[in-house]
Amino acid sequence: MVTETTRDDLVDRLTHTGQHGVLRFITCGSVDDGKSTLIGRLLYDAKLLFDDQIAGLENDSKKHGTAGEEIDFALLLDGLEAEREQGITIDVAYRYFSTEKRKFVVADTPGHEQYTRNMATGASTADLAIILIDGRKGVLTQTLRHTYIAHMMGIRHLVLAVNKMDLVDWSCARFHSIVADYMKSAENLGFKSITAIPMSARFGENVSQRTDVMDWYTGPILLEHLESLDIESGEAQQPLRFPVQWVNRPNLNFRGYAGTVASGSVAVGDDIVVASSGAASRVSRIVTSDGDLETAEIGDAVTLVLEGEIDIARGDVLVPPQERPDVSDQFAAELLWMHEDEMLPGRSYLLKIGSHTVPATITSLKHRVDINTFEKKPSRTLEMNGIGSCKVSTSRPIAFEPYKTNRAMGAFVLIDRFTNQTVGAGMIEFGLRRASNIHQQAMDVSKDARAKIKGQKPTLLWFTGLSGAGKSTVANAVESKLAEAGHHTYSLDGDNVRHGLNRDLGFTDLDRVENIRRIGEVGKLMLDAGLLVTCSFISPFRSERQMARDLVEGGEFIEVFVDTPLDVCIERDPKGLYKKALAGEIKNFTGFDSPYEAPETPELRLNTAELSVEGAADKVIAYLREANRLG
Ligand code: ADX
Repeated sequence: MVTETTRDDLVDRLTHTGQHGVLRFITCGSVDDGKSTLIGRLLYDAKLLFDDQIAGLENDSKKHGTAGEEIDFALLLDGLEAEREQGITIDVAYRYFSTEKRKFVVADTPGHEQYTRNMATGASTADLAIILIDGRKGVLTQTLRHTYIAHMMGIRHLVLAVNKMDLVDWSCARFHSIVADYMKSAENLGFKSITAIPMSARFGENVSQRTDVMDWYTGPILLEHLESLDIESGEAQQPLRFPVQWVNRPNLNFRGYAGTVASGSVAVGDDIVVASSGAASRVSRIVTSDGDLETAEIGDAVTLVLEGEIDIARGDVLVPPQERPDVSDQFAAELLWMHEDEMLPGRSYLLKIGSHTVPATITSLKHRVDINTFEKKPSRTLEMNGIGSCKVSTSRPIAFEPYKTNRAMGAFVLIDRFTNQTVGAGMIEFGLRRASNIHQQAMDVSKDARAKIKGQKPTLLWFTGLSGAGKSTVANAVESKLAEAGHHTYSLDGDNVRHGLNRDLGFTDLDRVENIRRIGEVGKLMLDAGLLVTCSFISPFRSERQMARDLVEGGEFIEVFVDTPLDVCIERDPKGLYKKALAGEIKNFTGFDSPYEAPETPELRLNTAELSVEGAADKVIAYLREANRLG
């Protein structure tokens, strides 16, 4: 289970770039490529260990190590590994060290396939990635996946660390063939530098010392390279972006906006506007727990006090009036999917960008990236660890910038609305113009006016339940009674709609999500027409029923759970479909190899094993009357 703290940490890591003059790097590669040994070796050689740690390490190495009489550097990091083994909430371990020339922050990212999340987390703030390769194994799919994620997360420098050279006889030919193999894929990704270094982390060879065992290699050794690499960073020159984390209002005399400067800087007296609304003000104080400041810079956590009263909420971004970010409810983004359940276009997720959380859907997947060739391939969905480019639509406009321009304003995560798990990480590419050029057309006759003429309150009666539960039968009886009483009604029904509007859809999870999304939108139009509408769809997923509910106004959506047990449905089998499903002739049949998520708190539950059709319909009508929907 992902806790709120790890989520916040993830968002924070994805967006916070921090201190300057420091080289931030990550090490990544497959399991056992020697990441821990490499970091242990760097810390040891940079003289960052205390004498007693070294003595302890020598001792442990004799007892448990795998390196014979030598020190086993991987043991240094073992305590950490043990923590990691315990659950999925493992995080990246950050280590800080320095040499005379430079300070370093290294994120050690676990190499297991399912830990891509941590790799992405570490990568989002790094200047450089060390991609480790086992000299015996060469380039693996995982190597390429990590390379692509590094590229996608905006890392511009790579070190290809061809490790364990001692196990391939320090072979020059082996090294060159691995590098050639890797370059075929990586060189077109636009990295500023890719430096390949043959090494043995275990013996320290070409990590921080050079001997003549690989005298054929004349390039830089690792530490030398890390110390001298030029990594100019543009973030400080960028305009101010101050996402409001919370509104601090301890009493009537003080109102401040707390947050961390995500880019640029801010000074007392600066004019600012709220990115989404354009409301303007001026900074009157910059407050911290250690007293007031005149200016605050990127990475500073402060509370801004503004002149006058303007409307600002958590999630708003304060920016300079002349340098505003995009504000839109649709954009294109690169997406890394991190959950076992596939990504479902059309499903409503929560999107968290900075301190702002909004409902969002992926409207379409433009392509996925084939991780072995980096080619773009057509696809409708992404699986665990899949990467692709998609279009995202949010329920409200948000302020953002392309990730390439500003990492802090362009990174987001997607969260499952029911399990609360982080399911994806995204990088915004650009806003979609079509969103900003389409405006709502105001109509003279309103929904209210239409409803008034009909003398009723527009309502969606949403019948959900298994196939054969009796949804359509009860809905039909309800509509007949309403029509008899002079109401204006319509019925939307799974089997019927699937012959027309939704004839292109089948019964995969993807298609069912899209089925309900369309019905939700059609239902909403019918409410606008002032009708009482029955909707009879299995609608097996809670997420999509919630989405339909969220589309309409409070009180307009009434969920009716037609609660008929599976064995009763099998017995009734009105369309003979259960017989076929039992014989294995139909795939993805609800209740068999496709799930049904029963409503937890429906407005109405109808037990059709106990109620007659007439009795069930009367219960629905009574509910409508009591809820004042019938005028
Ligand atoms: S939903 O899951 O996407 O909401 P919907 O209500 O539109 O389904 O359609 C369900 C109807 O399609 C069922 O009542 C049944 O008659 C028919 N059907 C055909 N194949 C399947 C299947 N694999 N699973 C469920 N229903 C199916």
